[in-house]
Amino acid sequence: MAAEYIGRCQEEKLRKMPVDLVKDAFGCDIIILREPNGASAVVHLHGGQVTSWKNAQGDELLFLSSKATHKPSKRMRGGIPICFPHVRNLGSLEQQSLVRCHNWTIDPNPPPPPTNGIKAYLDLLSRPTAADMNIWAHNFELRLRVSLGMANLTLTTRVKNIEKVKALSFNFAICTYISVSDISEVRIEGLETTDYLDNLKCKERFTEQGNAITFDGELDRVYLGTPTKIAIIDHEKKRTFELRKDGLPDAVVWNPWDKKSKTIADLGDDDYMRMLCIESAAVEKSIVLKPGQEWKGRQEITAVLSSYCSGQFDRHVASDG
Ligand SMILES: *[C@@H]1O[C@H](CO)[C@@H](O)[C@H](O)[C@H]1NC(C)=O
Ligand SMILES: *[C@@H]1O[C@H](CO)[C@@H](O)[C@H](O)[C@H]1NC(C)=O
Repeated sequence: MAAEYIGRCQEEKLRKMPVDLVKDAFGCDIIILREPNGASAVVHLHGGQVTSWKNAQGDELLFLSSKATHKPSKRMRGGIPICFPHVRNLGSLEQQSLVRCHNWTIDPNPPPPPTNGIKAYLDLLSRPTAADMNIWAHNFELRLRVSLGMANLTLTTRVKNIEKVKALSFNFAICTYISVSDISEVRIEGLETTDYLDNLKCKERFTEQGNAITFDGELDRVYLGTPTKIAIIDHEKKRTFELRKDGLPDAVVWNPWDKKSKTIADLGDDDYMRMLCIESAAVEKSIVLKPGQEWKGRQEITAVLSSYCSGQFDRHVASDG
């Protein structure tokens, strides 16, 4: 039973909210958030991972691999994994995440409720396990709030250093697999003139030149100190995702394309065509917390019908979120 690690009164509390705690067909504990307009999101307690986000029309907006392992204890390829605290190499952060293997719990001491009227939200907590302490001897509390709006999904993350004397130094990424119609028809706007490290060229540093990022082969880049607003434009679906981020200065953009896909066990050979991985990240510089200090990062994605023509996206508009 999920109640094992959720606790009775937490369950009572959940019952009063527009969220459902259930098991999925594979026996995983999941929480379903529902917005009155029909939008929904699914969060797996294992990994604190959002694995589905549907708009009011019921269209899935996130990518989940056709070969994703649906085992309660395995990492699932797709959705929105949280990567913390290790980044051995810049880029492809997922492999270094400890908390992806945790069974997160409902946060018994959540931050104050959202002030923007959103009712479908959920607060999770992750703490180091005994096994983690052998790998990375740091005591922390990692909090995740997932909130679902009519057309947006926001992830707010907080890391608190609960050590008495030791500083906590870490990297962080909210890694979002977006579902796209056809990757070769997708463009990303908002990263023009930004510097990036190219993971396919030994992390050499370049400056983005073009009007927009488009895809015609494998791409794996860490954009450094990006603007807070990035647009992902899917022409075929006439859909634009507006991504806003705070506290996460960098952005990783990744698509493995055909050859690399074949080397990734839990990714279908043709899955790369339907996905784009974009990470709101703090990778170039580590975040350092003194004992008792807390850090906060945030990513909000809004999915709207495209009204953008190429070049119209104004990345200098300040975030109003
Ligand atoms: C998490 O829970 C699942 C059962 O839902 C269990 O199989 C797994 O061992 C647990 N993992 C940890 C790290 O406790
Ligand atoms: C997200 O959606 C909610 C309504 O569901 C709204 O109150 C909030 O302003 C939205 N956020 C942004 C930045 O559009």
